Amino acid sequence: MKVKKAVIPAAGFGTRMLPITKAQPKEMVPVFDKPVIQYVIEEVYEAGIDDILIITGRHKRAIEDHFDKQPELENTIKNSEKEKELEKLNEILENVSIYYVRQKHPRGLGDAIYHAKQHIGDEPFIVLLGDVITYPNCTKELIKSFKGKENIIAVEKVPKELVSRYGIVEINENMEIKNMIEKPPVEKAPSNYAILGRYILQPDVFEYIKITPPGKGGEIQLTDALKLMIADNHKMLAHIFSGKVYDIGNKLSWLKATIEFALKSEIGEELKQHILNLIK
Ligand code: G1P
Repeated sequence: MKVKKAVIPAAGFGTRMLPITKAQPKEMVPVFDKPVIQYVIEEVYEAGIDDILIITGRHKRAIEDHFDKQPELENTIKNSEKEKELEKLNEILENVSIYYVRQKHPRGLGDAIYHAKQHIGDEPFIVLLGDVITYPNCTKELIKSFKGKENIIAVEKVPKELVSRYGIVEINENMEIKNMIEKPPVEKAPSNYAILGRYILQPDVFEYIKITPPGKGGEIQLTDALKLMIADNHKMLAHIFSGKVYDIGNKLSWLKATIEFALKSEIGEELKQHILNLIK
């Protein structure tokens, strides 16, 4: 079975980014000149998937507006330099179908994913967290290694002192995940391989989310549902991603990503001089 659909959960409050995220979804926070979720949609598109379901919630309308046509604006900038800025986005909008479903109560990542059940049906699918950017394209890598019947979780090595921020997995020599724990204290972490926010999942996952009790923070955790699948002998493989992962869910890594992307852009040289002057 091939992966034909992507699910992007984008329903969380983004409390680590307050006050930026008071009235604005965290997925719309700009990383240099694009909202973070646009990078995520580009990742899906470039991996050849054209069916995307975004799980939203209240206060998330800006996401739908961003991925809609804006005829008045487009007419205004027609034949000007600015037209270029929307080129990529418009190309994507013409070639992918984006669907939305609302999570009414923020009950955690697992519960958000459960809202995709009907849309997904009986096929494997890829989950991309809406506030994580990967470079190079992690979705492409996962799809390339996918054989059809397994689940694959992308992980990255993180410093030991940061394990309590992530879902942590225990991997055997065949890259099979034998255990996983959501945000463990450092002394309980089975490794320092952290779930980075890209998963290829089989549709069985919905049955497991349904029976997953509330976990960390009183929420239905996807990690806990996947752990139940492992206990029932579902094949769960780790894919160690060696590219860069930008977690836009906290202020420091958001700023680091923004600066890094801006330094690579046409304003990079001026920005660099400015930063050098600041720290002189
Ligand atoms: C979620 C997942 C966690 C994963 C992390 C990656 O946590 O629950 O397992 O490691 O994303 O960013 P969140 O950061 O949404 O609290």
